[in-house]
Amino acid sequence: MSPLELNLILLGPPGAGKGTQAERLREDFPLAYVATGDMLREARNQGTELGLKAQEFMDRGDLVPDEVVIGIALERIQADDARDGFLLDGFPRTVPQADALDAAMADLGRRITAVLLVDVADEEIVRRISGRRVSKAGRTYHVDYDPPKHAGRCDVDGTQLVQREDDKPDVVLARLRKYHEATSPLIDYYERQGLLRRFDGSRSPVEVHDHIRATLATLRLEDEL
Ligand code: AP5
Repeated sequence: MSPLELNLILLGPPGAGKGTQAERLREDFPLAYVATGDMLREARNQGTELGLKAQEFMDRGDLVPDEVVIGIALERIQADDARDGFLLDGFPRTVPQADALDAAMADLGRRITAVLLVDVADEEIVRRISGRRVSKAGRTYHVDYDPPKHAGRCDVDGTQLVQREDDKPDVVLARLRKYHEATSPLIDYYERQGLLRRFDGSRSPVEVHDHIRATLATLRLEDEL
């Protein structure tokens, strides 16, 4: 594996700002972006068998079964554009998913560089998710924190902004419960492997981004030594 290869995982509760930071990190580094939530929504929009199967889990705030998600994520990290590094957003989300990723990375002779935990308290999560609006192309805004120039319209393509189905209040609470039950054990999992780096997601997007960039710069320097 090239010492400069960055294989990153973004971890954190729903609405913590993982997608927001991913957008910025992709401008800094040429990383293949692998967001399982986006991939599942795309499959659902196309009406594929996988998408329709996933929809019922997503709509009630549940996790899509491991065997479905592991297949699509591992296939994606082996694609040509992911050979020199990737940014995983929303995967892994359970211990079996993390075990499957570890096994695949070992087979490929690659390793995870760091796991970036963007952490935010539950009350703030509810505020963020309830105000989130997205464009058809998946651009994200917030009615208070990051409003579009013209209310309800995407700055880039002018399409109408909508609320995600799973951003409705009762589904958000189910997603948060699922995070604490199934995903937060990954914090210890990656801490034990010495890979976890923590970021205070309650700071502004710019501050969180600066902190992540500084951390990655240090990791790269250490790798080169
Ligand atoms: P997924 O799409 O991955 O959703 P999520 O993890 O719940 O994360 P979100 O996209 O809701 O939030 P985010 O952290 O990216 O926050 P954002 O940057 O948008 O998954 C959806 C569903 O798919 C799951 O529930 C599950 O069913 C299924 N799924 C996906 N992967 C799976 C897997 N591996 N296994 C099983 N099932 C899977 O920010 C949120 C809002 O806050 C925005 O409005 C933004 O503008 C604002 N904001 C961001 N940062 C800040 C800040 N620093 N200050 C103020 N506002 C901010």
